[in-house]
Amino acid sequence: MPVLPQIAVIVGSNRRVSLNRKLAQALVRLGAGKFDAKFVRIDDLPMYNQDNEDNLPAEVVRFKNEIAAADGVLIVTPEHDRSIPAVLKNAVDWGARPWGKNSWAGTPAFITGTSPGAIGSALAQQHLRSVMTGLGMILIGGEAYITFKSNLIDDQGNVGDDGTRTFLQGFVDRFAALVAALTPQAERAAA
Ligand SMILES: Cc1cc2nc3c(=O)[nH]c(=O)nc-3n(C[C@H](O)[C@H](O)[C@H](O)COP(=O)(O)O)c2cc1C
Repeated sequence: MPVLPQIAVIVGSNRRVSLNRKLAQALVRLGAGKFDAKFVRIDDLPMYNQDNEDNLPAEVVRFKNEIAAADGVLIVTPEHDRSIPAVLKNAVDWGARPWGKNSWAGTPAFITGTSPGAIGSALAQQHLRSVMTGLGMILIGGEAYITFKSNLIDDQGNVGDDGTRTFLQGFVDRFAALVAALTPQAERAAA
């Protein structure tokens, strides 16, 4: 039985009925058989404070361990005021710190997201790509800006629109291939 790569899924929203969480769940379904996914909490992380770097809060330790244990990271984020939502940027900052303990470096990632707006979280994604590239993540290329419409996710939790499903399947497949290429089977089996 092959050991599948482990993906940490981060939703950049702390809203109970987040559209981005629905999209993230549908993307995980598109990755079935290619990776195993674990949703990682960010809504319980305290506000970043450099004073706490010598004695990291328990939630931060848990979060950094979850990222470190993952073979890849899927980030599905809304756009807040044309940028990265504060709850997600807070998680990014904790992941990056303390100096020398950057949890993101060298990890493959797929960044996407949705918004009811026409440009589908494009600016938030672009800002996040800039930040995560600076932190050493290995991002898959291309642009997956998804405008949320009522038929985007169907009642079963799948991407409902054929064209969008095919489009997103391409991203998920390329992400899975990159993660598999960077994570040898032997290493996964030993984890
Ligand atoms: C504080 C705030 C700022 C927002 N700014 C934007 C924006 O810049 N662009 C956009 O397309 N939508 C914006 N929206 C609308 C969000 O796209 C919408 O609330 C969406 O449902 C958020 O995703 P979520 O359901 O996953 O939380 C904003 C919403 C909030 C609450």
